[in-house]
Amino acid sequence: MPELGVNIDHVATVREARRTNEPDPAWAAMAAELGGADCITLHLREDRRHIQDRDLLVMRETVKVKLNLEMACDNGVLELACRVRPQQVTLVPERREEVTTEGGLDVLAHRAVVAKTVERLHAEGISVSLFLDPDLAQIEAGAGMNVEAVELHTGQYALAAGAARRDELVKLASAGARIQQLGMALHAGHGLNYVNVQPVAALPGMLELNIGHSIVARALMVGFQQAVREMKQLVVAARTE
Ligand code: PXP
Repeated sequence: MPELGVNIDHVATVREARRTNEPDPAWAAMAAELGGADCITLHLREDRRHIQDRDLLVMRETVKVKLNLEMACDNGVLELACRVRPQQVTLVPERREEVTTEGGLDVLAHRAVVAKTVERLHAEGISVSLFLDPDLAQIEAGAGMNVEAVELHTGQYALAAGAARRDELVKLASAGARIQQLGMALHAGHGLNYVNVQPVAALPGMLELNIGHSIVARALMVGFQQAVREMKQLVVAARTE
């Protein structure tokens, strides 16, 4: 059954709208754990637009489930990650002008810097996942970095409808199979919601889904714990149908 990683960045976005101390993303992490989250995911961006260094430090102390830090190959964030040592780092691309992570990491174009970052994280005993598009060339290049996992970018799947969505699911399935053949764990995330999550959760060998926007959106209406519980139920049911 896939584990559910809950991304709490948007809670920090609300806090930063007023540059105050509430809501604290650590509160959301706690509620997410109570609702059944298997992992708490946070993205410390180079521009610190939502999650702050302090949030990573606090959650390293308070989160009892796996902590997954999303970060770019940025030296400052890398040094902090090595000091704090979350269980897992997911390497993502970052562009200052983007609203959210828009595509997978281009391992082929940035081979040297990705390899160096992975090596440094491994030296600290941190498990590494690469956020990649369902592109076989990128996946092969990722495997060459000896990472533990690949998180498939499900953004195109989430945006597509009808036959196009089925095509995107086929791409995710074959990329997922290749990831496992190459000895890496299969994760997925981006744009997943209460309507589209189950086909992705049911992909053979899926081990971790990272979901943020849609859970935080529902949490505003039903509360964080309940929103996570409902997502967890869908993820679990997708495996047993
Ligand atoms: N996985 C990665 C690598 C991401 O960058 C994000 C967005 O921060 C997510 C998952 C979650 O995406 P969403 O907020 O669309 O659920």
